[in-house]
Amino acid sequence: MLKIIKYPDDFLRQKARAVKDFNDPLLEDLVSDMIKTMEMEKGVGLAAPQVGSDLRICLAKVDNALFVLINPEIKAHSRKKEIFEEGCLSFPGKYFPVERPVKVKIKSRDINGKKIKIKAEGLLARVLQHEIDHLDGILVIDRAFPKIRS
Ligand code: NI
Repeated sequence: MLKIIKYPDDFLRQKARAVKDFNDPLLEDLVSDMIKTMEMEKGVGLAAPQVGSDLRICLAKVDNALFVLINPEIKAHSRKKEIFEEGCLSFPGKYFPVERPVKVKIKSRDINGKKIKIKAEGLLARVLQHEIDHLDGILVIDRAFPKIRS
């Protein structure tokens, strides 16, 4: 199990870099350790920077469906937004109201480097947006409504 980096550690603020070598055996190890860590911590999502990696990898587990996204990008989102309380393993025990688009379309790679597309809505859309934010060093407090000074 990996150690979760907590706010205000500066590591959470870096921009992660794209995964280039999908044959690197360390990639599979990292993803599998991330999955175990997310499940142990009872999280619905986890991003690599939260466990000390600077790679663009994130996970979501919603309704027992596990998503492993490598180099994900949000390609489109609905105009309709919703405010919902979000937690984050880097802010244990805290919840922040965040407004986000209800639906998103995401282009990504899977663990083998294969291109995948995901259309998400509801909780899954929210979790994926939250995790992709982590890859850019953006945290839930940056999007919290009303604005929180960090
Ligand atoms: Ni988070």
